[in-house]
Amino acid sequence: MTVKKPTPGELEPIETASRDEISALQLERMKWSLRHAYENVAHYRKKFDDHGVHPDDLKTLADLAKFPFTTKSDLRDTYPFGMFAVARSQVARVHASSGTTGRPIVAGYTLKDIDTWAHLMARSIRAAGGRAGDTCHISYGYGLFTGGLGAHYGAERLGCMVVPMSGGQTEKQVQLIQDFRPEIIMVTPSYALVLAEEFERLGVKPEDISLKIGLLGAEPWGQGMRDEIERKLGIDAINIYGLTEVMGPGVASECIESKDGPVIWEDHFYPEIIDPETGQVLADGEAGELVFTSLSKEAAPVIRYRTRDLTRLLAPTSRSLRRMDRITGRTDDMLIVRGVNVFPSVIEEQILRDKRLAGTYQIRLTREGHLDNVEVQCELQRELSNRLSLHETQAIGAELQQRIKTIAGITTTVTVMAHESIARTLTGKARRVVDDRPKQQ
Ligand code: DLL
Repeated sequence: MTVKKPTPGELEPIETASRDEISALQLERMKWSLRHAYENVAHYRKKFDDHGVHPDDLKTLADLAKFPFTTKSDLRDTYPFGMFAVARSQVARVHASSGTTGRPIVAGYTLKDIDTWAHLMARSIRAAGGRAGDTCHISYGYGLFTGGLGAHYGAERLGCMVVPMSGGQTEKQVQLIQDFRPEIIMVTPSYALVLAEEFERLGVKPEDISLKIGLLGAEPWGQGMRDEIERKLGIDAINIYGLTEVMGPGVASECIESKDGPVIWEDHFYPEIIDPETGQVLADGEAGELVFTSLSKEAAPVIRYRTRDLTRLLAPTSRSLRRMDRITGRTDDMLIVRGVNVFPSVIEEQILRDKRLAGTYQIRLTREGHLDNVEVQCELQRELSNRLSLHETQAIGAELQQRIKTIAGITTTVTVMAHESIARTLTGKARRVVDDRPKQQ
């Protein structure tokens, strides 16, 4: 594989700036962002006031630690648009991701925010080795999920020809890749392997696949998976990170010349690592929870947003900006199933809505080939256990499956069982989630 090292002229000044220059820009933008949030979002103003801090208290970057954190529950409590800092007429687009209840978390963008996003995605694709004139096949889902449209605008901005394929329809994906001969693919790592297997099934060898680069993310993946994807598709597999609340894909992305962890686009997002228990800010290199403060976002600024993702901040290498390590886990129980975020509480909500079902349930995750399977086991109420026919029981399962699909966006296998079929733990505590998927290394 040929590694395209960027020529100096191709990089933006910030990518090679000195740390002092970066810090100065961050401080200036952080002051603006704190003030913007305080002056325009009642929720932030109240939180800052309750905490006894004011945007004027920020004199250095380290002063950020005086400000309160923002969490998913802040976004939930202000659903849908309560965290917006501009008038509704200025919001050009919304995206959403799953919350801890049936209601999603909403992100808003002004036209300028979308422009910044396109710019940072273009920067990410360039760091991955993509160039104007390349063809870019996008298999991230289009819609409320940020993956498809985020990738799309960035690839267009860079000057690529974009194939907005979206997710699913594996045979068609592979056919279009063979016909259009794209150099770049943007896809979740697990789906990249599904595509690789389809190529294998058709007898197409890696060297005959036109793809050279993949920007892969939206779910955890490890070096083992990277090796396999690179080998089977004949590409450089690049790690791209992001989250809806902060922007979408392209908050951080890897450089092809070093492939040593996503570079955080620190000129727009200020990262901190905290001890998830105490909230204390940790030094670079120490593992903890990743926290972001947006530095330029207009519609929905985030101040010290707790991502719940566990990682470390790493020293700059290929760029002047710091990197992050792979995500090693989360501090909450959010599951990522085929790239879709799912909170067990959302599935639970749907189970509890059906009064014919008892409250006991178990969500079992397994991996078949490269794709995750989710089985939801639940139990009938005791008095119904021996009274319903198999057909009636299956109908309850089918209804629940449909509701979970609609609300959580994932396909599950629902098994409705007799009362007390699900094993109880010795301590009496329910084991709600059994994750038997192999660990990523
Ligand atoms: O997954 C945005 C995205 C789309 C990123 C396409 C990369 C590519 P959400 O749906 O809000 O946004 O999910 C965000 O996904 O907090 C992480 O837990 C996880 N995640 C995202 N990228 C990576 C990655 C998009 N490269 C949540 N490695 C985040 C590990 C990732 N986990």
